[in-house]
Amino acid sequence: MGSSETLAGLQELLHGYTVEVLRCRPTDLVEFAVQHFTRVLEKQRNEQGSTKSAKKGVTFDAKEEEDEEEQDVTVGEYSPLAPPAAAVCAEAYNPDEDEEEDEEPRVVHPKTDEQRRRLQDSCRDILLFKSLDDEQFSEVLEAMFEVLVKPQEHIIDQGDDGDNFYVIEKGVYEIFVKTDGADVCVGKYDNKGSFGELALMYNTPRAATIMAAMDGALWGLDRATFHRLIVKNNAKKRRTYEAFIESVPLLASLELPERMKIVDVLGARVYKDGERVISQGEKADCFYMVESGEVRITIKNKVKQDSVEVEVARCTRGEYFGELALVTNKPRAASVYAVGATKCLVIDVQAFERLLGPCMDIMKRNISQYEDQLVALLGSRAKQ
Ligand code: CMP
Repeated sequence: MGSSETLAGLQELLHGYTVEVLRCRPTDLVEFAVQHFTRVLEKQRNEQGSTKSAKKGVTFDAKEEEDEEEQDVTVGEYSPLAPPAAAVCAEAYNPDEDEEEDEEPRVVHPKTDEQRRRLQDSCRDILLFKSLDDEQFSEVLEAMFEVLVKPQEHIIDQGDDGDNFYVIEKGVYEIFVKTDGADVCVGKYDNKGSFGELALMYNTPRAATIMAAMDGALWGLDRATFHRLIVKNNAKKRRTYEAFIESVPLLASLELPERMKIVDVLGARVYKDGERVISQGEKADCFYMVESGEVRITIKNKVKQDSVEVEVARCTRGEYFGELALVTNKPRAASVYAVGATKCLVIDVQAFERLLGPCMDIMKRNISQYEDQLVALLGSRAKQ
């Protein structure tokens, strides 16, 4: 085996291990590594005498089976929290090297004008689509198909293989994650947002169950198109935002793979000078980091109709805002405006809860200072 093959093998093994760590979140990384690589070794030994078809773990279609034949590492389960039996196909997928995907036939689901309008409205704010160029975005729209769901219908079951990514047009969808064998509701999507990206991005089993709480309408995007357009773009996104994410003090306590998962789900939004980013009193669904430019944060007295907005803080590159309402589950407590041309990186509330849990203590500590800062500020204004 040459050194490049050895390196590729090493990368593949470490990738498989990293995916499992992210999925199972073990407390003892070393013990987990021993268990993980023991399973990999056992599997390799089992495979040595077996047929080619028996060698495969999870496959999704014949095309992928050919492409990934030499790459799969199929591993078992570790955590009691992990979904049952389904195997994980932790392939070393490098979107930049995967040229053959471009030659696959494009998926097109014809739509009426009215369907197209509804689809475009539903996809307008989907963060994962924000980094696509116009042509890629219209390819995504062409490939999407309408899915109507009934109350109690499971759109996704935890532990299954990933087939589609879903964008919500309407309806409420509950999120259940298995904890100690029981399905625990950890949140919900309320008439907007998207789900089902994780299994497709990381080739892992579904991480949660998603159930419709009422009649609903969704738009599905097949796995192959998601890979070809979104996952490929994520490689670019990582290169673009990696250095920035590394420099955000709030995220310093996260492990590198967790910071990269934030990059994968974030979307960029640009604002003109003076444009409103957040409006006091509105329902919150996003968390923001300033990538360039500046924002000013203002508060006005909700009781006094004609009260003026008072500036309470500013945020510049590497700083964050919009966490308070997500943490407290209350409406936005302040408005936020761009100062000059400003670019923010945004993650939705579900990703915020899933990925920024380890930073919660820091955020809560900072939140506890907001009131003191406000009292001090209003006190000094009163004296003037
Ligand atoms: P996926 O694992 O493909 O399928 C289930 C989806 O639920 C998952 O992608 C996410 O899009 C979504 N989800 C929302 N909240 C959570 C959560 N707390 N843990 C895991 N998945 C979640």
